[in-house]
Amino acid sequence: MSCCIPCQDTNRFFSRVARLYRWKHRLFGLEKTQKDLIALLCAEGVAEKSLLEVGCGAGYLHRDLLHKGATRVIGVDISEGLLTEARSLSDAGGLGDRVTYYFGDFVEVAESLSGSDIAVLDKVVCCYPDPERLLDAVTSCTVEIIALTYPRNRWLTRVGIGVLAWINRMSGSDFRPYVHNPVDINHWITQHGFERRNCLQTTVWMTELYGKCQ
Ligand SMILES: C[S@@+](CC[C@H](N)C(=O)[O-])C[C@H]1O[C@@H](n2cnc3c(N)ncnc32)[C@H](O)[C@@H]1O
Repeated sequence: MSCCIPCQDTNRFFSRVARLYRWKHRLFGLEKTQKDLIALLCAEGVAEKSLLEVGCGAGYLHRDLLHKGATRVIGVDISEGLLTEARSLSDAGGLGDRVTYYFGDFVEVAESLSGSDIAVLDKVVCCYPDPERLLDAVTSCTVEIIALTYPRNRWLTRVGIGVLAWINRMSGSDFRPYVHNPVDINHWITQHGFERRNCLQTTVWMTELYGKCQ
């Protein structure tokens, strides 16, 4: 993997909190935004579809989609700690042979990973400094559907993300979270022949589903 300094710090940041993901899931299950994302995907149909999850983290979302009928998953993440967690949970759940994990910045590895029916990015564009390149890479790898969640552009989220960015700066980390403009996100996806088909929102998060134009 060619890894820039911010990516190394993203790796460190998420690898440090990898175990927390397991505890959070044990205590609370899937998050509301993940349930929204799954609902939008199931309305389109996930049975017999192949899945690419960019920034897959510990993999709770794609394991649920495998149980709902997706055939196989490619999971990509920049965090070694979260990928180790994902691998061991998928193996423990008997799903290891249906998931292939790749460590790296998706933008750098995308070329070799094209052809999935569905791409999912759950809280990932907000962790990457160049969302346009990230979404360019995702649109070129995806055949049918792109579903993603990202923070809404509201004062509440801007303050929260600003505080997290400040804490990281103070602690010497180059990892930064971002609130990107939703109009730009929409443009970066639709310019590649996708149309927005559905969206749901919570106080903090936007969940959107895009389909390839016929
Ligand atoms: C907020 S976490 C969300 C993890 C998971 N999607 C979830 O919701 O539990 C963001 C994840 O995206 C990963 N990530 C960020 N930018 C990435 C990139 N360019 N390529 C691959 N993974 C990336 C991070 O390492 C991290 O695991």
